[in-house]
Amino acid sequence: MNFRKLGRTHLKVSEIGFGGWAIGGGWGPQSDADSAAALNRALDLGVNFIDTAAGYGDGRSERIIAGVLKGRRESVVVATKTPPTPGPWPPSPYCVACERYPERYLRENIEQRLRNLGTDRIDILQLHTWTRAWNRNPEPFAVLRKLKEEGKVRFVGVSTPEHDQNSAIGLMRDGWVDVVQVIYNIFEQEPAAELLPAAAETDVGIIVRVVFDEGSLTGKWTGDTSFPEGDFRRSYFEGDRLGRAVARAARVGEAIRGSGYTLPQAAIRFALAHPAVGTVIPGMRNPSQAEANCAASDLPAMAEDLQRRLRAHNWLRGFWYAGK
Ligand SMILES: NC(=O)c1ccc[n+]([C@@H]2O[C@H](COP(=O)([O-])OP(=O)(O)OC[C@H]3O[C@@H](n4cnc5c(N)ncnc54)[C@H](OP(=O)(O)O)[C@@H]3O)[C@@H](O)[C@H]2O)c1
Repeated sequence: MNFRKLGRTHLKVSEIGFGGWAIGGGWGPQSDADSAAALNRALDLGVNFIDTAAGYGDGRSERIIAGVLKGRRESVVVATKTPPTPGPWPPSPYCVACERYPERYLRENIEQRLRNLGTDRIDILQLHTWTRAWNRNPEPFAVLRKLKEEGKVRFVGVSTPEHDQNSAIGLMRDGWVDVVQVIYNIFEQEPAAELLPAAAETDVGIIVRVVFDEGSLTGKWTGDTSFPEGDFRRSYFEGDRLGRAVARAARVGEAIRGSGYTLPQAAIRFALAHPAVGTVIPGMRNPSQAEANCAASDLPAMAEDLQRRLRAHNWLRGFWYAGK
């Protein structure tokens, strides 16, 4: 496992981090035993960065992580997230920052994160979503600054809203965030235009999520794949979306032929090829996924000509431009 500096935090984090959504729930049946085994395997293979959130099974993911980390808490960086108060997700342009992330609520929510994680200081606290409407007066980050001074959290950041990831750039440039969590993968390359260069300029740490496009970029699905009850992908890939994603992933598979990478490995190596990236956090549900994903760190860096070829697979999924 190789390690990188996570921007201005100066934390040395494993290139492969552990994505903790599926172990919380929302991805169909998932036993806590499999989840703990996946995380233990990842830690044994050198992972020292874990991402989770209040919303992943209403604290279930955080509690599993706390259980596994008993006795080795100090050697691992855990990033969690606080969601806004109930309301539109992503927040609408008319939402008011101090109503969706009021100070009292933030404080109470963070106490709950501390209890679930069994710790007295959160390594990285991310706001789970955002709107650019709040960039001019990002009051919630002023509250988080106080919580940093009080020693409740060490570093703060934001997870980008999917439809407007660039909304985090203002927060970077104005010095509010230590890290930003962003979708960056072979299908979603827009962050290379401005967000990733801005992170490099401002020394903000980048955490890459959804490197497999929720699974389509593993290449293991067909047009007939179905998802079990309780798996959010039943709706995420409904209608013609599954078939289109599978067809696109097959074309990526052709493009990497002869590279020596499997498709999941190529997906991870593509994200790691950007110098602004600190860690890539694939979701892992069992020990064999942990092994496959951790092994990607030790593979050769992706050659520039393959990176260039994969640029053609950027997929603009906006309603009008998406194509077939
Ligand atoms: N808004 C936010 O802040 C936000 C949103 C999404 C994700 N995240 C974070 O980012 C992390 C990663 O994203 P994600 O988990 O949504 O999606 P992802 O990493 O694109 O996909 C993960 C899924 O792919 C499958 N998989 C993993 N490794 C594999 C391998 N080597 N071969 C084949 N299949 C494999 C597993 O599902 P199956 O076994 O079911 O196929 C796994 O749950 C999350 O866990 C979470 O920590 C944050």
